[in-house]
Amino acid sequence: MPQVDARPVAVLVSGRGTNLQALLDAAAAPTYPARIVRVISSRPGVAALDRARAAGVEGVVVHHRAFADRPAFEDALHAALVESGAELVVLAGFMRLLTDGFVGRWRDRLINIHPSLLPAFKGLDTHARALDAGVRLHGCTVHFVRPAMDAGPIIAQAAVPVGPDDTPDVLAARVLGAEHRLLPAVVRWWAEGRLSVHAERVRVAGAAAPDGVLWGPVVG
Ligand code: GRF
Repeated sequence: MPQVDARPVAVLVSGRGTNLQALLDAAAAPTYPARIVRVISSRPGVAALDRARAAGVEGVVVHHRAFADRPAFEDALHAALVESGAELVVLAGFMRLLTDGFVGRWRDRLINIHPSLLPAFKGLDTHARALDAGVRLHGCTVHFVRPAMDAGPIIAQAAVPVGPDDTPDVLAARVLGAEHRLLPAVVRWWAEGRLSVHAERVRVAGAAAPDGVLWGPVVG
């Protein structure tokens, strides 16, 4: 059972939901300081909604196609979030761009996980682009959301080595493993009140690097 005073978090998804699963699994531990109160999907019929159901968490669809324009979609999203009582909103594979208005309403209460070491490789196909660029380290980033895509104060990053024979899928799987450790760690820090933003940089009070999340380059 989650802690009674665990802080309420909503997760926005659009697809398979493995990062959501990592959060659900973490939140199932009695000592985890956050609980997932609602999962909102921009599309019906996605695996993430099945994961929410299996964990006993309410899943809601706010289908972007059901609204005349983006502001109307975002108003519905906002209403569903307010109704849930969430104090933090996590974008975990949420595939809609959000406008300044929505992002402003949730400023410093809205985080995103992105599969690259930002500011490198914003946008899509990050693993193929990392391989094309020949980088030796790749990884993932959790950041507070600002209006520009994949921009905003960085909370934490996890690096993984890039192997000489990696394909985009192999590299994606390695990064995903890091994502699944990093995101629950960041939500824990938030729930423990450790995160603050000063002049667009994040301070994490008293937190050591999550064990096993950070790697140095493989040498020799
Ligand atoms: C992850 O790679 C995440 O970093 C990106 O979208 C993907 C979502 O995967 N934003 P999943 O739905 O959590 O499995």
